[in-house]
Amino acid sequence: MKITLTKPDDWHLHLRDDEAMTSVVAHTAERFARAIVMPNLKPPVANTQLAADYRQRILDALPENSGFTPLMTLYMTDLLTSDEVIRAKQSGFVHGIKLYPAGATTNSDAGVADIRKLYPVLETMQRESMPLLVHAEVTEPEIDIFDRERVFIDRHMTKLRQEFPELAIVFEHVTTRDAVDFVRESNGPIGATITVQHLMYNRNHMLAGGIRPHYYCLPILKRETHQEALIEAATSGNSRFFLGTDSAPHPQHAKECACGCAGCYTAHAAIELYTEIFEAENALDKLEGFASHHGPDFYGMPRNTERITLQKRDWQVAESYRFGKDMVVPLKAGQTVHWQLITEQGG
Ligand code: DOR
Ligand code: ZN
Repeated sequence: MKITLTKPDDWHLHLRDDEAMTSVVAHTAERFARAIVMPNLKPPVANTQLAADYRQRILDALPENSGFTPLMTLYMTDLLTSDEVIRAKQSGFVHGIKLYPAGATTNSDAGVADIRKLYPVLETMQRESMPLLVHAEVTEPEIDIFDRERVFIDRHMTKLRQEFPELAIVFEHVTTRDAVDFVRESNGPIGATITVQHLMYNRNHMLAGGIRPHYYCLPILKRETHQEALIEAATSGNSRFFLGTDSAPHPQHAKECACGCAGCYTAHAAIELYTEIFEAENALDKLEGFASHHGPDFYGMPRNTERITLQKRDWQVAESYRFGKDMVVPLKAGQTVHWQLITEQGG
């Protein structure tokens, strides 16, 4: 069996930098025409000039004639100004500004401590049609890690939606039924990305019978009922939900240790694994909307004209891939994937 789709885009991706980036970017460029590139480098990509430089390094790292377009984002710090938002908009290559609550995840130390101080900047973003991309987890240590997304909705997301009714908001990597319901029921322009690991797994996969560090990402995998809500949302055809892998490579040694860091590497088989999920749900007819249409429609960009073909054929994922001077262990390392990318046809 084969299926052909409009070439998809990845609306949430970590590419890292330097040789590490060069090792992984081809996986994404083979499968996706464009990707929203997250700005959590060290130091963060906090202004338009840094985004321009990073964009050039990505273009230089791409394989010849890949046709891939990186869509850049800025990292929102407490120092972000309205002038910078306007500069970013005028650049034409910055497509969103990412809000990381300070300390929420990998390289988020420079994130936002008090969102209310940034209200004038959000005002400008709303006026300039610059989307706000949100890592929606509270960071208070007393809040249980499994509740951090739900509590963020109550404390911040509802308020943000009310105060800035015209601001385009992307609720990144939704992981709970609460988030799915919020996105479904909100007024105004709102979308949500869904990762493939949150569709494939729940916290039992990560924790029962041994700790599997390669399933550890943030927001953390939740219980099965949340996984079911995500599958339902992704395969429903609702255009507010779209593909965002959050593929986040880390060196093997930084994952497989006493305090392993957060992130799943999925770029090597992303569209193939999403296809498995949609097939299992008898929803292959909804895959193209989720993977290739809803994202560009939300961001106000043209849909891609190229196409990709996937064939139902088993292949085995490598145990690891080179990652700069290190190795990265991909999701499903050494296991079988049931769909394979076969061709790319001109559009
Ligand atoms: O698991 C994660 N890894 N979640 C994030 O929010 C950041 C990402 C990373 O950059 O490694
Ligand atoms: Zn991310």
